[in-house]
Amino acid sequence: DVVDIRAFSKTGMFTFDPGFLATASCESAITFIDGDIGQLYYRGYPIEQLAEKSDYLEVCYLLLNGELPTAAQRAEFERGVMRHNMLHDQIISFYKGFRRDAHPMAVMVGVVGALSAFYHDSLDINNSEHRRISAHRLIAKLPNIAAQAYRYNKGLPFSYPKNGLTYAENFLHMMFSTPCEEYKVNAVTARALDRIFTLHADHEQNASTSTVRLAGSSGANPFACIAAGIACLWGPSHGGANEAVLKMLDEIGSVDNVAEFMQGVKDKRYKLMGFGHRVYKNMDPRAAIMKKTCDEVLTELGLQNDPKFKLAMELEKIALSDPYFIERKLYPNVDFYSGIVLSAIGIPVSMFTPIFALARTVGWISHWTEMIADPAMKIGRPRQLYTGAPRRDFIDEGNR
Ligand code: ACO
Repeated sequence: DVVDIRAFSKTGMFTFDPGFLATASCESAITFIDGDIGQLYYRGYPIEQLAEKSDYLEVCYLLLNGELPTAAQRAEFERGVMRHNMLHDQIISFYKGFRRDAHPMAVMVGVVGALSAFYHDSLDINNSEHRRISAHRLIAKLPNIAAQAYRYNKGLPFSYPKNGLTYAENFLHMMFSTPCEEYKVNAVTARALDRIFTLHADHEQNASTSTVRLAGSSGANPFACIAAGIACLWGPSHGGANEAVLKMLDEIGSVDNVAEFMQGVKDKRYKLMGFGHRVYKNMDPRAAIMKKTCDEVLTELGLQNDPKFKLAMELEKIALSDPYFIERKLYPNVDFYSGIVLSAIGIPVSMFTPIFALARTVGWISHWTEMIADPAMKIGRPRQLYTGAPRRDFIDEGNR
């Protein structure tokens, strides 16, 4: 049930809803989540079908344009996006201002924000063609920006994208190829990475997407708005959870320590990272797909007996049968398994959240585009309940 309270504002009334537990901030035709039964749809298509039959670039087209592309539209879109995948040499020089050990998310906030300096004066956000090209630039450049953050951290020379590879393959190539040795792409792992991108592509009004919308509602530069989204995503309650899951598995160490850890969770000393969701009060449908992908990748790489995977399965088994988790409707979310898949592919833990960011960029820019194209758009401006001091007179320094 939805109550439209916009008319309240004319009477001076407003609602108090910290954390937006019961407040919709916008209308949107992009993504629908039915959290009670654990379903997710992009533009009406179930995520299970898209993960099985589509791929990330096609999903990007769908999210941006509202329909699946024909073969000709797809080819044109792919050409249109991939021609933007290089980085300006001046952008490359930004990396050198960061410490080598800077977290790649910090580097991404900076470098993506800096793109606004390259695409600002020439960009009219009220022009739909300019919005389209901005979206293409972002989708094309984010894997490159993320890969270079990793390489800078490792002391590797910067790399270039390579034509003829898929989006996911190109990312792996930019991450891992060296001047001496080309990265050998494995079709199963590249497909798994593409699926991770697809599953993370959009998730309606989560914290980072709402941040992008709020930043964009002032008419700010879209590249700067996406940098704001990246900053928000970094937190461990949001996109940082995939990194936190792996850290948690390392800290637990072995199946023998699970019971003690779970007691700590119930005593509220720890959180079971990768569990729980604001909207899903049933299994996260992305988690079910990711679990299957996890099986495929571990089998392909001969890692079925991987101790981290076994530990994760033990945690899942206990949590799903424990009244504490059942009463609170806490189920595994997508990040519980994606970290295990990324780790098996050889992606370092610090790159998990940057991978989430590059995949979510299409969702962010689709929402930004939808918002800017809406003639009824208003600047976002939440109200507050003031709890501070009442009016008082200034006290001279000697009398304080
Ligand atoms: N482990 C243990 N207990 C939990 C967890 C968890 N992961 N998540 C929620 N709870 C408990 C809370 O302590 C609370 O218990 P109480 O009723 O006894 O006080 C109850 O469940 C309700 O939790 P809230 O914090 O009110 O739920 P909220 O909707 O605000 O939070 C969130 C959702 C932030 C995702 C939370 O579940 C969490 O922190 N999970 C771990 C981090 C994580 O995996 N984040 C990824 C989210 S998905 C994504 O961004 C892709």
